[in-house]
Amino acid sequence: MSLENPQRYTVTAALIYANGPIHIGHLAGCYLPADIYVRYLRATGKDVAFISGTDEHGVPITIRAQKEGITPQEVVDKYYVQIKRSFEDFGISFDLYSRTSKPIHHETSREFFLNLYNSGNFTEEITEQYYDESAKQFLADRYIVGVCPVCGNPNAYGDQCENCGSTLSPTELKEPLRSMLSGSKPVLKATKNWYLPLDRMQPRIEEYVNGHPEWKTNVMGQCQSWLKEGLRPRAMTRDLDWGIKVPLPDTDGKVLYVWFDAPIGYISMTKEWAEQQGRDWELYWRNKDTKLVHFIGKDNIVFHCIIFPAMLMHEGSYILADNVPANEFMNLEGDKISTSRNWAVWLHEYLDELPGKQDVLRYVLAANGPETKDSEFTWKDFQTRNNSELVGIFGNFVNRAVVLTQKFCEGKVPTRGELTETDQAVLDELAQFPDRIGQAIEQYRFREALSYLMDLARLGNKYLAETEPWKVAKTDLTRVHTILNIALQISASLSIVCEPFLPFTAERLRKLLNTDQVSAKDATGSAFHWINAGKPDLLPHGHALGEAVLLFEKLEDDVINQQINKLHESKRMNELAVKTVPEAKPAIQYDDFAKMDIRIGTILEAERVPKSDKLLKLKVDDGTGTRQILSGIAKHFEPEKLIGVQVTFLANLAPRKMMGLESQGMILMAEDRDGSLSLIGPDKAVWNGGTVS
Ligand code: MF3
Ligand code: ZN
Repeated sequence: MSLENPQRYTVTAALIYANGPIHIGHLAGCYLPADIYVRYLRATGKDVAFISGTDEHGVPITIRAQKEGITPQEVVDKYYVQIKRSFEDFGISFDLYSRTSKPIHHETSREFFLNLYNSGNFTEEITEQYYDESAKQFLADRYIVGVCPVCGNPNAYGDQCENCGSTLSPTELKEPLRSMLSGSKPVLKATKNWYLPLDRMQPRIEEYVNGHPEWKTNVMGQCQSWLKEGLRPRAMTRDLDWGIKVPLPDTDGKVLYVWFDAPIGYISMTKEWAEQQGRDWELYWRNKDTKLVHFIGKDNIVFHCIIFPAMLMHEGSYILADNVPANEFMNLEGDKISTSRNWAVWLHEYLDELPGKQDVLRYVLAANGPETKDSEFTWKDFQTRNNSELVGIFGNFVNRAVVLTQKFCEGKVPTRGELTETDQAVLDELAQFPDRIGQAIEQYRFREALSYLMDLARLGNKYLAETEPWKVAKTDLTRVHTILNIALQISASLSIVCEPFLPFTAERLRKLLNTDQVSAKDATGSAFHWINAGKPDLLPHGHALGEAVLLFEKLEDDVINQQINKLHESKRMNELAVKTVPEAKPAIQYDDFAKMDIRIGTILEAERVPKSDKLLKLKVDDGTGTRQILSGIAKHFEPEKLIGVQVTFLANLAPRKMMGLESQGMILMAEDRDGSLSLIGPDKAVWNGGTVS
């Protein structure tokens, strides 16, 4: 059950790992919807703590440190600053953006752990984990490299194969195994850790999750599939040296599991904020009238809907999340966003290249938000939405209202005379928009809310198109005044209801309408609050508008093409960096070469070798008869397509057996940068058996 009409909110946004800069996918998936939600709550007078920060522990940090050749501490210091800055630049209005390296966080996490420990909530288990004897360290899954059991990639990690995408556990990896720390072969070694017995808590968690049928279907779906599988105990401590030390005796080399301490960060950061503000943090975490909402991406669902609530239930003194409106992922130009492949639009670069265009990105990301399924960002769509929606609808309407007011009313809000039916209908419709937008936001339907916002601007455009004040001006100025008054009232409401989505535009629009002057005149000082949006008299007549400012401007093709080119160029550079031309082999004499009997033949038959996904069995006409050659190319060629093709083969390679079949020779292939293979044949048909020299 969701809380009815709460007045106090704790809103959190995922504590992102401080191991790299942030991109549009992060914004679209988590931080932008959170910010829209919070800005709306504040606008409606709610008491909100909007809390986030960086997650500075765990293996993702140490991996990054190893890659960059710096210490984990240097990694988190560098990226905390950069990430915080990006959020500020895009107007993400956290009340506090902190980090899990703060002493208050370490204390809070240790205390939480000890509470659970002392009340007997953990089970102790001894398990065998991979250990690197030369580095004298247990190895996190990520640090173990072996052969992928699914695709045979020799460089698969203990948690995932990056070649085929399979999720793995270290014990599934095939030999040879090696440690990423020292390259030596890891050995299994017994170690003790503390587990949260999620299995025993299953009924309580089911009750909690099932008590929230209003959760988004993508969130509910993941929860139910975990519950159906049956929850298993999960280790809350790890053998690692980067993180919060386990607060128990004889636990050297052990730290709290990063997914134990990180969500506690929401609590410790609220404490930090409350202390700064002179408020009581417990109101935000221990008062059942407070509504707790976690904004996250889909990869964090289980931690926020099952594991963290289980921790909180065990501890007993905290409220649980009322909702976890997780988003799916946003793709970029037809491909998954990837940091390692540099396929991303980085926030810190965007503003260098498109200065002042925060709201354009906010608009496009919110309009394409991956709310129910993965969505897609393309630069062409970005351009279209800017040009035809922000410029063509929103900007165009406001601009016409203001320019006409300058032309016919000396830049002052005119008086409204008698209303026609059309006028009244427009004012009635206007009155409904704030609630319509607000309700969609309250239900985490941000795309829908944003489309209502644009509908309001459309309403304004339609009104001007129908009433045609520029024509009426020739005959009836009183009528023009009424029309423009109404158009300006719509603009004034727009400046209020657009603020959660487009805060920079809202500010410009308020300057343009000179709304500060209005508030000052207004006795309650509340004219421009959400509660008054939709009212027909936000701007009093005689009020002078402010200076003309441009809300949006058209984006030309060259600007957009530059971005598209940049994206492809950086991807190409990235590929070049990982794949270089293989090193030259040592010199040989002609005699060495002449030993090889290389010939041309025609493939007569080709078929797959049963039980092998690599081998093809080929019958090749070698000019004197047919010979059988086995070739490991089944992944690259359809057998039928090879029949009749002339190829080059090594004829005197000693016969070998593969899968119980004899291979009499070897087909020569060229390998491309991406690993794909090409056959090497003569450029015109030659006789079979002809030699190559
Ligand atoms: N660091 C995690 C990530 O980037 C998110 C942690 S969210 C919190 O995926 F719950 F742990 F805070
Ligand atoms: Zn694989």
